Amino acid sequence: MVKPDGVDGKYANVIKKTILDSGFSIIHEIELQLDENTVKTFYAEHSSKSFFSNLVQYMTSGPVLIMVLEKENAIADWRALIGPTDANKAKTTHPGSIRALCGINSERNCVHGSDSSQSAAREISFFFDKSSSG
Ligand code: CMP
Repeated sequence: MVKPDGVDGKYANVIKKTILDSGFSIIHEIELQLDENTVKTFYAEHSSKSFFSNLVQYMTSGPVLIMVLEKENAIADWRALIGPTDANKAKTTHPGSIRALCGINSERNCVHGSDSSQSAAREISFFFDKSSSG
């Protein structure tokens, strides 16, 4: 997912080029303005964290670009490509990563990636149901 700061900062196209150049296929994509309830449900596992209300505000601040990517070893490879959660840290430890390119800090980190095949399955069905062609 390209988050609101990524879409607003016009990073979506360069991110998509990086995705394709790195050997992923983009199977589905959709741009959506998320509402509060959707973000709260999507990030439910973080509901007790101190940053949760800021996260909800951030994720509803503008449209996001949601994509389903396909590749062998896609989850680990995508997480390597985006770099660590803290985009500020990514700038020194992973300078070629997507978060180093367009993120700012541990909240405004420009992109999201599923952290396991279970969460990928949940997150894909959360946004793309079986009848979806997008
Ligand atoms: P993401 O990988 O989408 O997963 C949860 C999100 O919560 C994360 O990216 C950040 O946007 C946000 N987040 C995680 N840790 C922090 C933190 N320490 N402070 C603020 N926001 C955070």
